[in-house]
Amino acid sequence: MGLVDDKVVIVTGAGGGIGRAHALGFAREGAKIVVNDLGGTRDGAGSGSAANRVVDELRAAGAQAVASHDDVASPQGAASLVETAVKAFGRVDVLVNNAGILRDKSFLKMDEAMWDSVVNVHAKGTFLCSQMFARQLVAQGGGGRIVNTTSVSGMLGNFGQSNYSSAKAGIYGLTRTMSIELQRHRITVNAIAPIAKTRMTEDLPMFQGVDTLTPEHIAPAALFLGSDLCGDRTGHVLAIAGARVYAFKVIETTGRFKETDNGVWTAQEIAESWDSIVKA
Ligand code: NAI
Repeated sequence: MGLVDDKVVIVTGAGGGIGRAHALGFAREGAKIVVNDLGGTRDGAGSGSAANRVVDELRAAGAQAVASHDDVASPQGAASLVETAVKAFGRVDVLVNNAGILRDKSFLKMDEAMWDSVVNVHAKGTFLCSQMFARQLVAQGGGGRIVNTTSVSGMLGNFGQSNYSSAKAGIYGLTRTMSIELQRHRITVNAIAPIAKTRMTEDLPMFQGVDTLTPEHIAPAALFLGSDLCGDRTGHVLAIAGARVYAFKVIETTGRFKETDNGVWTAQEIAESWDSIVKA
């Protein structure tokens, strides 16, 4: 018995890196896989056949898999992605929104095209694919799981990534809102925040000579959130980096209440009370 026997799982950006590891992980546990990948370069230029290679790999291992070369950032692409799954396997069960690109530049030098392309693939792509997927789930009678991909950069910020961190923080907000709205359709929506050596990160100093931060370390987190082991947990961010699994949470401090002046704080009083306002 596999964890996801006969479930139809769509993994976007699964032509390499973390997405490929997700696809292999779900397939090993009995899922039928739609391997989506536009096949472009790290910064999103061009297209290619990366999805076909992973489909071949999955089929060679005995799994059922089909390729989708759709662009997740376009409404037509997102619609075609879900249609591909329904045409091949008759239904959908799990969506892993993983596709992504990078166009780093320090904030003062960031241009509009770099902003738009990165926000489009990550935030808009996650919105479009999730909406098409969730509509199909509702048409099937409800039930299903969405696993998004945010980032430490989105949760905490990172130098040179104003476009990427905004997109990834947007995915966090989208995960929270979808988890609330889709609960009544029995659809769980969670996110992972991975750290792994892939073509996206391999030139960063922190990954030089490191072989303990692999996509294979990440895949079990998506498998957990995409399987019934997840139960009714929804709206969480599970972070994973090599041997370490942890979680991101946004906290709200207790804060302070003003008893006088109709509760209206002055700016000076906020300054004077700063430490007790922000104390967790
Ligand atoms: P990767 O570059 O190997 O994989 C991304 C895949 O997405 C590529 O195969 C690419 O062709 C595909 N893709 C890009 N634009 C697409 C589009 N419009 N439509 C369909 N496919 C598209 O990089 P990696 O590291 O495997 O990234 C996977 C996800 O994990 C991304 O969302 C990334 O932002 C996220 N992530 C990765 C981290 C890391 O340490 N590697 C850290 C935090 C987040």
